[in-house]
Order: sequence, then C-alpha cells, then structure tokens
Amino acid sequence: MNNIFTNTTIPEKHILQKPYSQNTYLINGELKEWNGETASVFSPIYQENNEGFLEQTLLGTIPNLSEKEALTSLESACKAYNKGRGEWPTMKVEERISCVEKFTEMMLETRDEIVNWLMWEIGKPYEESCNEFDRTIEYINDTISNLREMDQKHSEIKNHNGILAQVRRAPLGVVLCLSPYNYPLNETFCLLIPALIMGNTTIYKPAKHGILLLSPLLKAFQECFPKGVVNIIYGSGRTLATPILKSGKVDVLALIGNSKSANILQEYHPKKNRLRLVLGLEAKNPGIIMPDCDLDLAVKECVLGSLAFNGQRCTALKILFVHEDIVEEFNQKFVEEVQKLKCGLPWDENVNITPLPEPNKPNYIQELIDDATKKGAKVLNRNGGKATLSFVNPAVLYPVNETMKVYEEEQFGPVVPILSFKNIQQPLDYVSNSNYGQQVSLFSNNPDSLAPLIDSLVNQVCRVNINTKCQRGPDVLPFVGRKDSAVSTLSVYDALRTFSIRTLVAFRSTKANDKILSDLLENNTSNFLRKK
Ligand code: G3H
Repeated sequence: MNNIFTNTTIPEKHILQKPYSQNTYLINGELKEWNGETASVFSPIYQENNEGFLEQTLLGTIPNLSEKEALTSLESACKAYNKGRGEWPTMKVEERISCVEKFTEMMLETRDEIVNWLMWEIGKPYEESCNEFDRTIEYINDTISNLREMDQKHSEIKNHNGILAQVRRAPLGVVLCLSPYNYPLNETFCLLIPALIMGNTTIYKPAKHGILLLSPLLKAFQECFPKGVVNIIYGSGRTLATPILKSGKVDVLALIGNSKSANILQEYHPKKNRLRLVLGLEAKNPGIIMPDCDLDLAVKECVLGSLAFNGQRCTALKILFVHEDIVEEFNQKFVEEVQKLKCGLPWDENVNITPLPEPNKPNYIQELIDDATKKGAKVLNRNGGKATLSFVNPAVLYPVNETMKVYEEEQFGPVVPILSFKNIQQPLDYVSNSNYGQQVSLFSNNPDSLAPLIDSLVNQVCRVNINTKCQRGPDVLPFVGRKDSAVSTLSVYDALRTFSIRTLVAFRSTKANDKILSDLLENNTSNFLRKK
C-alpha cells in the first residue's frame, strides 16, 4: 500500500485557506463571543509541513466551554419553554413550520461549505458527504409535510359517549441533543428538527468530530428561531452534559452514540420519570448467508454493508455467518471485491476507504486483529489491517470464533469477521444472546427457508433485511432497536411522535359547552384547539 498522504494534490475547490476560528456559541438568541480556553480541531487527513514531515491538518479551534456556560444554555432553553407557556411551545404549528422552512432555505446556501467540512473533519468521501447533506434536506422537507398531514388529521373533534374531544400532540419540554461523529449533520438534524418543530426547546452539543460543519449554520439558527429555542454549546460532553442533566430540568435526552455514556447521563437525572429517552446506540448486525443464496449478490451487499464509510455506520454488517458448504467460495469472492475497493482521500473519484477520524481507532483495529489471529483466525486479504497514520486497509478475518473480541465487540471500523456455520441455530443463537438487537441481513433465494427465520428474527431485532445490506434508510422507515441498541423510534413520522405527547381538550357536550366550542373554533382564538 502506498502512503496515501504523500504526493496528493487537493482539488482547488476543497483547499482550506487557513484554520477556522469558531469563537462564538449560541445562547438565548445571541452568538456570544468566547475569549476563554479553546480546543483544536484536527483532520484525519495528514499533510506535509515545511520540514517535509507529515502532520495532521489543523482545521481550526472551538470554544472549550465550562459548566457555567452549560448552565446558562439550560437556563436559556428553560426560559424559552417557560414551562410550556413560552412563545415557541404555544405557537401555531404553521408558524413553527415557517421558521423551519426559512432555516432550510438558508441551509441550502451552505451546501458546498458543509460538504467540504464533512470531508475534512471526518474523512467522508465527497459523494457520500453530498448525499448526507441532500438526505438531510429531504428529511426536513418530509418532516414538514408529515407534520401538516398529522395536524390536519388531529383537527377532528369526536364525540365519545357525550364527551367532545380534540386530541393533538404537544411538546415535551427541554431537549438535550447529543449526536455521533459518523453522521454529524444527518443524525443531528434527525433529532433536532422534529424536536423543534413539535415545540420543544433545545440544547445541542456537537459530537467529538464533525463540529466545524455546524459553523455555517449558526447564523441561520439565530435568525430563524425565537431566542433561546436553539442553544449550541461546544466542549467536553462530560463537562457540559453532566450539570445539565443533574439539574433535573431536562425533559428529553436525545443521544445517538454509545450506551455507556447514555447510562451515565440518564443516571444523573434526579427525576427519572420525567426524563424521556431517545437513544440510538451500538449494534452488531449479522449477515447470515445461506447455501441457497445468489452468491454474487450476497458478496456485493456484504462488502457494501460491512465497509461503506470504513465500517463506521451503526447499521453496518459487523459479523458474517456463512454456511459451511459455500464459505470457501464466498470468502474468495469477498476478498476479490475487497481488493477492488479504492483507498484514498475523500475528494478522490470513486474512493471507498478513507482516513479514520478517531485517533485511537487504528490501534483498536490492530488489537482486534492481533487477538483474533492469536486465537486461530487468518487475515484473508493482502495488506489487510495494514495502517498508515489514520488510514487502515480493511481486514477480512476468518475463521472467527466466540473466544475472540471481534466476535462480540462493535468494531465500528474496517474489519470484517467471518464464521462458517453448519446448523442455522448457531447464527440464531448469536442474535438471541447478543446485547444488541438492531437489524440482520438474510441471504437466500428460497422462500421456504426464509419464512421460519423471518418469524424468529423479527422478535430479536427490529429490521430483517432480505438479500439486502442493513441500513437506516429510506428515512420514512422506522429506525429502532431492541436491547442495548436503541430506545424510542425514529423516522420522519415516528420522530414527530417521539418528541411529543398526545394531549387533548375535552368538553361534556351540553348546550352551553357546544356554543363555547363553536365560538372557539369559529374565532380561531386558540392556537391548540382549532379547526385546521
Ligand atoms: O450510523 C448510523 C446511521 O444512522 C446509519 O445510517 O444506514 O443510512 O448509513 P445508514
């Protein structure tokens, strides 16, 4: 493998002129200037310095805020919510939609800048970075149309045994949003936008990587939403999120990340029944490859499923169970396809494998490989696992067994463990005994062998993919998991429900009450109880 960082030319439009100083944060509608301690943001991409040494590209700096600013952001979100009596939670749905539409228009103007940050900050290939941006815009637009439809449906007033009632959805309160580095734009907005549009107020702390891509949007957040509705703070998760949760004033913890942090954070909240959890956590999605599958298709889907964005997807296929009758052929074809993957920098055409943003990830991948090879597995592909700085060539490991770390741990990186099985009970037991329960992919062309597997697996995981890799999208489909993989359901429609609660206004139907109700509806004086 050549060193991908030397002799590379950065295309003109992706060149960064100088490090960017993000010296403001958003609290109470103000972009407050920060003159305190800052943290450096480095790219996983290395460049040659003046002395000819390779060094990580310094992208910029962000404020390293303290507990004091964290609590000020909380105060700001609480004030804007004002226990449900603030301007934002009591606003008409259409007015909230207008704010989000204005925000989307401003966001569209930042596409090139955000796509560029995605490449530099997390090493995401250009095409995939564009896709993350466009998918997010589509998600916002679909959220708006779903909310309109939902609101229209809820305008009906029904008479149930003499009680007239209108049932709508109302906000929950203050939402603390924490999102992951692998989809720093999309996953953030899949939480933030439904939370906001349903009338909640928010505090958002970006992930440990993929932070500067938010900078082009700060002004739009400030201009499009009433003050205090969106608060954005920078710094260490522990320093900022801990006091916010300990205050007991947060109503929703929306976190996409790992279960360890989720467990610690929810424990801090003193009023457990008040805290709603919206969590997207780890997964160890298996691919089960049956002897009667279309082998070429299975190989293609498994390569994509396990190694797209270097395996850094919560939905990635993280272990492959291949029937013993076809395992040799499968492995040979799988390795051939892995060898075809193009390694390079995010702007290189048709690139697949790019530098990893987490500084410790190459060492961790090596640990997994060493542990597996010590216990009998082989690296099947040429240069598999070979690392150069932040770049790791994918490793295909076979035969993997239950004594190896990679059998159980979520690698979230470019290593593919493969096992062979004789009896289908073996992969089924793996899924049942796993701590995780997000998705599974089954590869077979035989409906009779698929049917019992589907029936057993739908009670173990939340999505069974047939002859298709595991994935979250299309975003209209429910994204959810069992056990340690998730709490609450996300999707364009489900997220609107997740960030709200059914609330109703009810009247005993009497002459006087009927008249009050019709006056309220005709005069359109209530924002909640209304015709449309
Ligand atoms: O990392 C988790 C993402 O939500 C996965 O999304 O399956 O569309 O790549 P994806």
